Amino acid sequence: MHKTMQNLTIHPLTHPLTGTRRVPGDKSISHRALILGALAEGTSDVVGWLPAADCYATLHVMRALGVPIEHDPATPTRVRVHGVGLHGLREPENVLDCDGSGTTMRLLCGLLAGQSFFSVLTGRDALRRRPMRRVADPLRRMGAAIDGRDGGNLAPLAIRGAPLRAITYEMPIASAQVKSALMLAGLYAEGETVITQPGPARDHTERMLHAMGAPLTLEANTVRVQAPQAPLRPLTAPDGGAFVVPADISSAAFLIVAALLVPNSTLRLVDVGINPTRTGILDILQRMGATWALDNVREDAIEPTADLIVHHQPLHGTTIAGDLVVRAIDEFPIIAVAATQAEGETIVRDAAELRVKETDRIGNVARELRKMGADIEPLDDGFVVRGPTPLRGATVESHGDHRLAMALTVAALIADGPTTLQGADVMADSFPRFVETLLGEVEETQA
Ligand code: S3P
Repeated sequence: MHKTMQNLTIHPLTHPLTGTRRVPGDKSISHRALILGALAEGTSDVVGWLPAADCYATLHVMRALGVPIEHDPATPTRVRVHGVGLHGLREPENVLDCDGSGTTMRLLCGLLAGQSFFSVLTGRDALRRRPMRRVADPLRRMGAAIDGRDGGNLAPLAIRGAPLRAITYEMPIASAQVKSALMLAGLYAEGETVITQPGPARDHTERMLHAMGAPLTLEANTVRVQAPQAPLRPLTAPDGGAFVVPADISSAAFLIVAALLVPNSTLRLVDVGINPTRTGILDILQRMGATWALDNVREDAIEPTADLIVHHQPLHGTTIAGDLVVRAIDEFPIIAVAATQAEGETIVRDAAELRVKETDRIGNVARELRKMGADIEPLDDGFVVRGPTPLRGATVESHGDHRLAMALTVAALIADGPTTLQGADVMADSFPRFVETLLGEVEETQA
């Protein structure tokens, strides 16, 4: 269970959503800025960092490993990481608490496997139920000593750092977390680590490590990495200034769908990351009949960004399968909400991974949206939604899943009466002040 259980009452919107919004920094990139910045020799100044529970977990873990990280609560989107170099981490005095963050636990597994010390990774109940064998098994093949419950699959994970040897690994599932863990281990391994992924999982680690000067090559779906011979450079902007974390397209997705569904709405979402491994949501909505405009496209930094302008439009059903699923893996709760208002059938397949996200996102999305009157049928590897159906206000439950909580909030905006969302506070795992940002009650400030 999630620690606190805050209820939120959401009333249907009686006015359009208009204006400009800046959603918080990208979660995946914020984690990596801390972890990779720590391995550089020199200081990485980071702006636009995501001050949310998941990223704070990484911040505390990296500090416990001896990395000086400056963070002032008065300027929560700025961090300064004083890199300790590849061999400067030190043995933590206590267990490392990853809270609810799968990215923290899996990436750290890879980083810690090749250190010369002992460490233990743990986290909240839901995280201790998530499968870790997918990352621990290939790391064991590299020579790592990782133990845990359930035959080494479940946290707490005890890691006895060891010298690693490179492997060639074909990932059975497309997972950026697994890929990144193996790349981090590869920085400490003897030989060339070769990782092939079945689909285009997000490539932030590749981009950032490349910019830092790590010996890394990319070819189609294969990444090759070796132990660097020279120190890694700190993260910076192209002009040498602070490294800028783009706004998170996975957070923007909730506002994009809200603007599509609430009559007469138009929103401009500024500085959103449009890395092609993350824009599956835009392709899916386009297949559902939506259009949008991109403005201020910038492609000179490590990650491309743009302003996204989207307005209320009718949607129709579509089929989502294959590589498109990987490129939108975190967006299915809000895609399900969009599908309830689309004409015809929306079918999601090849998405069995959704069963092992923060929660079972197939079962729980179907269960909760049905309470609001949606026609949604769970499948083993996806779901089918028939629309459009009017949504009704109901009492719904987040199941401790931030993205389910935000998706239900957007659904509640177009329901016929008030909705009570139980466990609403979990939204802060990735999107502090979500409701205020959605409703335009937060002043839009520069990162
Ligand atoms: C993430 C990768 C994805 C995603 C998660 C963040 C990352 O998980 O669902 O929210 O930062 O690498 P998988 O790699 O397990 O698919």
